[in-house]
Formats: sequence, C-alpha cells, structure tokens
Amino acid sequence: MHWPFCAAKCPYCDFNSHVHRGPFDEDAYIESYLTEINQTAQLVPDRTVRSIFFGGGTPSLMQPQSVEKIINAISTKWQLSNDVEITLEANPTSVEADKFQAIRLAGVNRVSLGVQSLRTEPLAALGRLHSVDDAIKAVELAQSIFDRVSYDLIYARPNQTLDEWRQELTQALNLARDHISLYALTIESGTRYYDLFRAGKLKMPDGELSAQFYELTQEICESFGLPAYEISNHAMPGEESRHNLTYWQYGEYAGIGPGAHGRLLIDGKRHATSTERMPFKWDEYVSKKGDGFVEFDALTAGEQGDEYLLMGLRLKTGISPIRFEALAGQKLKQQQVDHLTEIGFVQILEDGNLRVTDKGWPVLDAVVADLAA
Ligand SMILES: C[S@@+](CC[C@H](N)C(=O)[O-])C[C@H]1O[C@@H](n2cnc3c(N)ncnc32)[C@H](O)[C@@H]1O
Ligand code: SF4
Repeated sequence: MHWPFCAAKCPYCDFNSHVHRGPFDEDAYIESYLTEINQTAQLVPDRTVRSIFFGGGTPSLMQPQSVEKIINAISTKWQLSNDVEITLEANPTSVEADKFQAIRLAGVNRVSLGVQSLRTEPLAALGRLHSVDDAIKAVELAQSIFDRVSYDLIYARPNQTLDEWRQELTQALNLARDHISLYALTIESGTRYYDLFRAGKLKMPDGELSAQFYELTQEICESFGLPAYEISNHAMPGEESRHNLTYWQYGEYAGIGPGAHGRLLIDGKRHATSTERMPFKWDEYVSKKGDGFVEFDALTAGEQGDEYLLMGLRLKTGISPIRFEALAGQKLKQQQVDHLTEIGFVQILEDGNLRVTDKGWPVLDAVVADLAA
C-alpha cells in the first residue's frame, strides 16, 4: 500500500512522495484504495495474504481509521494467514507517535521508523522534522506497543567519519531490538542533494571510504547478533521482514496506491503492474476505470530471469540456479559463474544456491549485470 504524502520533502529522497497543500478529503481518497483492492482481487482471487506493508511517503500521517478500512478490505477479499505481518512506516515526530496505539488497534503489528540519524546536525541537514530526542522516545514508545519494531538509519553521509559512525551505530544497536535497516546515502538524480553534489557542495565519501563504512557496519551489527540478511537489512535470525523477503525471493505481491508496483501471477504468467505516480491523477484513474494501472505486462522468460537475479542476489541466502532456469528458460551462464567464483565475488552454498560473497557485495550491481541476459 503506497501512501504518497509527506509533511515535507527531504532533500535526498526520490521516493514517490508529495507535500499536498489545501483541503484534502482523506475518507474520499481512501475509497480509491478500496476500489483498487477490489479490482486487484478480481485478477488474483483465492490468495492467502502473508504480509501487508504500508509504505510511502509517510503512512503514519494517515488516520488510523483509514489504515483499518484498508486492512478490513484486504481481509474481505482475500484470506489473511494466521500470523500475517502488517507493517506501517512511521516518521518519529511526536504527532505520529501519539497515534501508535490507535494504529495497533487498527491491526498493524510491526512498525518501521524513519529515524535516519541519532545526531542533531545530520538530522537537520537531512531536512528531518524530528529531533534526536523525538526519535529515541518514538522508538521506545513503539517498542512498548508493537511486538516488532525496526528503524532506518542513513550512513556514509557528507563529512561523516568512520569513528562517528561507529559510536552512532553502537548507540543505535543498543536501542534496537531485533531488526534494523541501514542505508548508505545514495545521491539520486532529481533531488536537492543531487544539485548540491553536482555543485560541489556535498562532500561524499569516495569508493574506498564507502567500502570501509560498509565493512564497519557489518562488523558492528554482527557483534550485536544482527547479521545482514539483505544488503541493507539486519535482523536476529527469525526476525527478518517477511514482506521484504517476498520481494527479494521474487514472490507474488500486489501494489496498491499511486506509484505502486506489483508482480501478479495470472493464468500462470507473471505480470508486472505499476500505477500512475501522481496522487490525484491516480485517484482520477481509479474513479474512472477501477484501477490506476499504467503498466500491465506479461514478463518474458528473460525478464523474469533478470529480475530474479536482481532481487535474489541481494540476499545472503542467494538464488537457486534451478529456479533461475525455470524462470529464465535457460541455465545461468557457467563461464561467468566460474569467473566470478574465481575472483571471489560469488560462491556456491551447500544447498546449491549461488550467493554474492562479502567481497562481492560492494560491487553487487556489476555482479548482477555480469550474470544477467
Ligand atoms: C520510503 S522511505 C521513508 C519512510 C518515511 N517517510 C521516513 O522518511 O521515515 C524509506 C527509507 O529509505 C531511506 N532512504 C530514502 N532515500 C534515501 C537515499 N537517497 N539514500 C539512502 N537511503 C534513503 C530512508 O532511510 C527511509 O527511511
Ligand atoms: S524520506 Fe520519508 S519523509 Fe522524507 S520525503 Fe522521503 S518518504 Fe517523505
């Protein structure tokens, strides 16, 4: 479920997020989500839903009753598994923290908080609306209300030193329970950070320092018992985000809301869906035709093979060469596998899966490109 609105646009963010001004009828807007859920359920009926993810944008700006309406609509159209994971992304301002209890009563059982930093200056530079104190209080409050709580930090920031990160991450892991997402800052085109970077006003770490940041992150998280299960995600074994694993294991998922992507199995064929990105145009499409789809394509075998590599190689458990062959209609390129193994970037695990090694992770994109069709 993509909720596209934010209280302010952060200068580094290229997610489909918008600040809306003027009057907004949330109840009417939610009707479009319910319509799109209905339409999607007609395409893929008889499914068991194992996870729901409210992502954004800032879903914690939603009214709790809107969250509840959406969860109810999903449970009417599909079967929810007994242990369904329902996550909501929340920003840690006090206004949003005040809603945690109501959000839990609406059915959410996991929250992912966008803390980003536990230091005052970087928070301001990242354009965040919360303080360090707000963030710590929000994490602690969330931990007292929800069974499962994760939070996000951004590292390898302009001017940050390894030593500063070591201290910040250690503090963060003392606060965290069983899951944390750690993202190296990426300069995305179209953002204010991109313009600043191009103008030479952001001092970003070079390739070598970035690799050191990454290695340090792995080392500290492992010492706290939260190893990486994906390139930016760390969890105690068993506490991985089930929802994210569905993407990376190339499962089936429906994308609802503006700018949402889905992969649906219809008549045995995997379809890629995406919806109109602009929030109010999406609403208009849904009102007119029942869904906001702007893409609805059956994927070729080659495309499925490439997508499986792109998603699956982010995981520590890697990809299954047998599943790759079933999806792609051809075997993995043996010459490339041999070469990448020889230079230590990939390895074959005992269960036969192929995974990227610690040495290969910093150059993951190049490894995927080498193996892709
Ligand atoms: C959909 S966003 C944010 C959800 C929520 N609105 C928030 O800001 O906390 C998910 C996460 O992506 C990360 N992120 C966004 N842009 C990034 C960038 N350019 N580089 C690294 N991480 C980024 C942030 O850590 C953020 O919490
Ligand atoms: S980082 Fe979060 S709050 Fe900031 S613009 Fe992106 S989605 Fe919105």
